[in-house]
Amino acid sequence: MTETLGFCQEMRPESCGFVLFGATGDLAARKILPALYGLCEKKIAPGNFYLVLAARTPQDRPALENRLWNTLTRAGFSPSPEVFSSFLGRLEYLQADYASPAFFGRLAAALTRLDGKFGVKNKRLFYLATPPEAFEGITASLKTAGLLFDPKDCKCWSRVIIEKPYGSSLESAAAVDAGLKQAAPEDQVYRIDHFTGKETVQNLLALRSANAVFDNTWNNRFVDHVQLTVFEELGLEGRAAFFEKLGLARDMMSHILQLAAIISMDLPETFRDTDFKASKRRFFESLRVLSPQEVRTSVVRGQYAGYAAESGVAAGSRTETFLALKLLIDSDRWRGVPFYVRAGKRSGVKRTRLDIVYKKPEQGIFRHIDIGYPNVFSFSIQPEETVSFSLISKHPGPKLCFARRSMGLDYRPEGGEAASYPTDYERLLIDAMSGDQTLFLSSAEMSGMWRFLSPILTAWREDAAGNPLHVYPDGAPGPAAADELITKDGRVWV
Ligand SMILES: NC(=O)c1ccc[n+]([C@@H]2O[C@H](COP(=O)([O-])OP(=O)(O)OC[C@H]3O[C@@H](n4cnc5c(N)ncnc54)[C@H](OP(=O)(O)O)[C@@H]3O)[C@@H](O)[C@H]2O)c1
Repeated sequence: MTETLGFCQEMRPESCGFVLFGATGDLAARKILPALYGLCEKKIAPGNFYLVLAARTPQDRPALENRLWNTLTRAGFSPSPEVFSSFLGRLEYLQADYASPAFFGRLAAALTRLDGKFGVKNKRLFYLATPPEAFEGITASLKTAGLLFDPKDCKCWSRVIIEKPYGSSLESAAAVDAGLKQAAPEDQVYRIDHFTGKETVQNLLALRSANAVFDNTWNNRFVDHVQLTVFEELGLEGRAAFFEKLGLARDMMSHILQLAAIISMDLPETFRDTDFKASKRRFFESLRVLSPQEVRTSVVRGQYAGYAAESGVAAGSRTETFLALKLLIDSDRWRGVPFYVRAGKRSGVKRTRLDIVYKKPEQGIFRHIDIGYPNVFSFSIQPEETVSFSLISKHPGPKLCFARRSMGLDYRPEGGEAASYPTDYERLLIDAMSGDQTLFLSSAEMSGMWRFLSPILTAWREDAAGNPLHVYPDGAPGPAAADELITKDGRVWV
């Protein structure tokens, strides 16, 4: 058992009803339904809790149960008959017609009935796992049907969860947000980027907050540069229709900037979500927006060689599957420290990782000898969740030789304890049930992301000659141009 010290805070999800719109979709099957089941299996779900699955596709009860079983086994569960049957006992399916007030009337009646049956008092989460085009219509109808409460009026709450990415530009994303806000104020909207639910990402902040040795050196006096890698081994996996419209930059930019924000934001005064969000907002305000000329020199886009032959990809598609870029932060702490980013599909390995690369020695015996970067603080986020710090030490033996060594932090729980810990989606659902917005994205963060991303997309569209699409071999960590992006600054990928 790991010993915990001093500060220890636990989220307690409140009793509530959970309505999942778009329940027949890919996100529901791969992430949300497994997370809801996981919460029940791990006994983390609130005691009084029920689920309404809603979608337009008609489904009778046996078809629903069969589908759920397949969904859970595909997600890696071996559901026990007791837990599965208790899960089924907590859920109902409603065929949706989002254009019809009668449907929302039926939903309201079902929620009142289920509140009574499960001992819940007007506390509801609405997860919009539909395409973003449907968000505004659904929330407006929920409001009209009296299902979005103002917590000031009663001891009740209603929260709306949506998933990034939405919109294709700053303006279209703002329009989605504006539509949502007409029905639900910002403190009732929970925007998910599941990277923030990962243990290592949260540990980044914990390590900084509790160990002054790190945070005090986490600045432009000591750090040479930061590297951020988000590689996927897989390609499209049959999701061409989704990805062709989106491209890697739109798919990944939120993850990239959330990770950059969590490394570089000033530490909040408290762990309260409002303080946390204020710090994160300052990061987005200090992110340097690239000019068209800087996009040419600081951003690389690529496509893996086999992409054109993937089923569902349009002939001559210029959708990028790889992105490398250098981003700069205009804050006293980080001015002059580049953040180099690589993200790609079919990049040979599955790896999400942050490396904080400290400066080389400027004094002492090694000032004239290039030993590379002696100190790299690395956070591996997936597939394994580890933290390590590399340093140069004396090689054992009679000679005075130096060798690179690494200290690892094994903070994952041991043995069976690990299985009882929530996954990223489970953690985020608990937080939403607890009313804690710390790990969710604000509309200001979404705007900040689009202020950064839009000029890149515009430059790619309007200046194709200056921003070529580099083809890279399947399984390679991007095109040669991505290496040049960092080597021309006298640095290398770690
Ligand atoms: N899939 C992912 O891994 C992923 C990752 C990041 C973000 N997201 C976001 O999560 C949401 C859901 O993604 P998804 O991949 O699950 O989408 P999806 O499979 O395309 O759609 C989900 C479900 O929404 C319903 N739907 C489709 N068009 C609709 C419309 N015009 N109005 C209302 N309902 C409609 C469909 O169910 P019925 O026809 O049965 O109603 C469909 O099964 C989207 O906002 C997406 O951007 C998804």
